Parts: sequence; structure tokens; C-alpha cells
Amino acid sequence: MANSYTDFSLSFSHFKNTKVQLDSGYKHHDILSLEGFRLANKEITSWDNYEPTPLHSFDDMAEDTGVSSIFYKDEYSRFTLKSFKALGGAYAVANLLIKKLKEEGINANSSDLISGVYKGHTLKHTVCCATDGNHGRSVAWGAQQFGCNCEIYIHRNVSEGREKAIANYGALVNRIKGNYDDSVRLAAEVAEQNGYTVVSDTSYEGYTDIPKDVMQGYTVMVDEAMKQMNDTPTHVFLQGGVGGFPSAVVSFLQESLDCPPIFVVVEPVDADCLFQSAVNGKPTAVHGDLDTIMAGLACGEVSVLAWSILENYAPHFMTITDESIPKAMQLLANRIPPIIAGESAITGLAGFLIACNDVELKSKLKINENSKILLFGTEGDTDEEMYEQLVGKSSEQVLSRVK
Ligand SMILES: Cc1ncc(COP(=O)(O)O)c(C=O)c1O
Repeated sequence: MANSYTDFSLSFSHFKNTKVQLDSGYKHHDILSLEGFRLANKEITSWDNYEPTPLHSFDDMAEDTGVSSIFYKDEYSRFTLKSFKALGGAYAVANLLIKKLKEEGINANSSDLISGVYKGHTLKHTVCCATDGNHGRSVAWGAQQFGCNCEIYIHRNVSEGREKAIANYGALVNRIKGNYDDSVRLAAEVAEQNGYTVVSDTSYEGYTDIPKDVMQGYTVMVDEAMKQMNDTPTHVFLQGGVGGFPSAVVSFLQESLDCPPIFVVVEPVDADCLFQSAVNGKPTAVHGDLDTIMAGLACGEVSVLAWSILENYAPHFMTITDESIPKAMQLLANRIPPIIAGESAITGLAGFLIACNDVELKSKLKINENSKILLFGTEGDTDEEMYEQLVGKSSEQVLSRVK
């Protein structure tokens, strides 16, 4: 195939999930629903400085790869956090405090919390979580915005830049020696001992309510994208960590569209818990260092709620290597106008370009001249140093090209 993206002729794995239940309609309203989206949307759109992030159309890339259109939802400008995660953790913190106030007989919404009138009540509470960066930043920002205390656990591979960004929102940040999954377990133990509330983006046996809020918050981004696109995608390529992000997109589109798109979940080969779960037909942990530059996707255990959505509605799973990541980041930095995308933002884009360079995979995914591709650029340069290292320029230098 003669396209400008032959650089993405790279190794990958693909698995077709034959367990999908695509004809029977959306059935997971108990986890995520349009009703839940409406509640999240009402709260989140009332927050200070809320604005939909842009949706870019890559017409040149669509022509080159032989598809009808490519849309890229760009989360770089999401509040001041530079990632879609701002919608999830912070929304769960707001909801938690609203519930706690209700127990005291006070009816409040997020605007009341932001105004600080109930600080005397909300400051009694501490939220706690493990993070590889973006989720913790959202929880810390939410705690600062809505008026409670916050304690965050990070694993050994989280960069100092990410650690500082979380601490900047006033949270107490603790670094541990283990990996992401160890930090999840430790946060749960500390919370149990101290009466904190865990606000996690991953769900596990016996812990599901708060992660539902986190995932439901993400659907605000999907609604924005659909309104901006003003059309229906045929394919959505979704990067996966624990699965909360892809399942939020899948649930929203599966419930709201008569003809939902084909979903392709893309992960780093060394942290492929969703892929392995698809292969084994059940949640499957992967162990080891989870060593990948896609920091937000370095997860070894699936979120059980997310998995139950993905196993039913996501027909394709892919893994890719780190090699494509700097290439995809540079590709977007060199566009006119430039787009700032971090290491975990463009895994879906890389998966799509890799598929376009493989005739067999392209055909298995049914990608053709009528395809309308939707991608979510889930973060900007959330780790500024890493961005500069991988792109060769800082985001300021990249953006200064257009000034
Ligand atoms: C930028 C970015 N994109 C995607 C994801 C994947 O989200 P999830 O872990 O919910 O699958 C993450 C997770 O942290 C992330 O930080």
C-alpha cells in the first residue's frame, strides 16, 4: 500500500473476540448508562472553566490511508490537567462528597462544593488512590476543588514530573517500590486502616460504585465528540489500561447508536491484560514490570466492570510495541496546526496506522474507503520531560511554530 505512513509497518498481535453479543442491544445499564451520563454531564459542565475539547479532522491522513474520514478528539486542553482523566476521578470525588453531605442532611451539588460553603463538613474526609499519573492528578485536583484531603500512591516507575504535578494540587504523594498493581493494593490497605475513601479508576470484587462514577465521567468526552463529529463512526480505536476508558466509550456508543461502530482495543504488548483476558475469555492478570513508555497503560489487571462491557461489545484486541509511540507523537507535533499528544494518547492512532499497513489486518477489521475512524487523543504532554525526550522539542517549542 502506498501511503505516507509506512513507518508504521510494525509488529503487532491481533485477537478476534468471538464472544461479542453485538446483535442483542446494550445490556449493561447497571454499570454505565445514558442516564448516568446525564447526571455526570450536569455536574461536570457546571465546573469552572468547563469547555468541550476540540475534535480535529485529519483529511490528509484519511486520503492517504484510503478511508473516508479520521477524527481525533484532543484532550490536551481538558481543564488544566491535560487529560480526559480530569473528567473521571474528580467527578467521583464530587459525587462522594455530595453523598457524604446527604448523610448529614445537606443537599449540595458540585457548584456548592466549589463555593466552599460546606468546607467545614467536607474537610473531615480524605480520598486516597493509586495512580500512574493522570488519575491521581484528577483525584487531587477534585479534592482541592471540592474541599477534602487527598493521599496518593505512585509506583516506582512514575516520573518525577508526574509526581510533582499531583503534589501541586495539595495532595500527599507516597512513592512505593512495587508496580502499579502493588500501589493499588497498598492504597486500599491504607484507606481501610485510616478510614479514608479509595477513589480508584479500577474496580475489583467488592469495590465497584466509585469506579462506575469515574468511568461515567469519561462519557462526557464521548458525548462531546459525537456532537462535534455530527456523523457516526464506523471504527473506534481505543487505548486500554485497566479498561475503564475504552468501556466508557463502548457503553456510550453501544447504547446511543442504532448502528454502533467496530471497536478495536489497543494495548502495549508488555501490559496487555485486556488482550490476554480476551484470549482466555475471563479476566487475566499479566505480571512483571509492565515496562512500556505508554505510562497510563502500564496496567496488569483489568477492571472487572470494564471487562464485562468490553468482553461483550469489543470484537477486536491488538497489542503494539513502544516503537510506534514517538513516531505517532512526532507525526501529530508536525501537523499544521500542531497537536500535543502524550505517550498514552496515540496508542489508538498507532494501532490504526499499523492496521492500515497490514493488508490482512485491514481486511479483518473491515477498514475500507467508507470507513469513518474516531480516535481519542486522551492526553497532552502530561509528562513534559518525557514529551520533550520523545518528540525532540518541548510542547512550547512545538506550539511556537504557529505563533
Ligand atoms: C492518557 C491515558 N489514556 C488512556 C488510559 C487508559 O484508561 P483505562 O486505564 O481506564 O483503560 C489512561 C489511563 O491512565 C491514560 O492515562
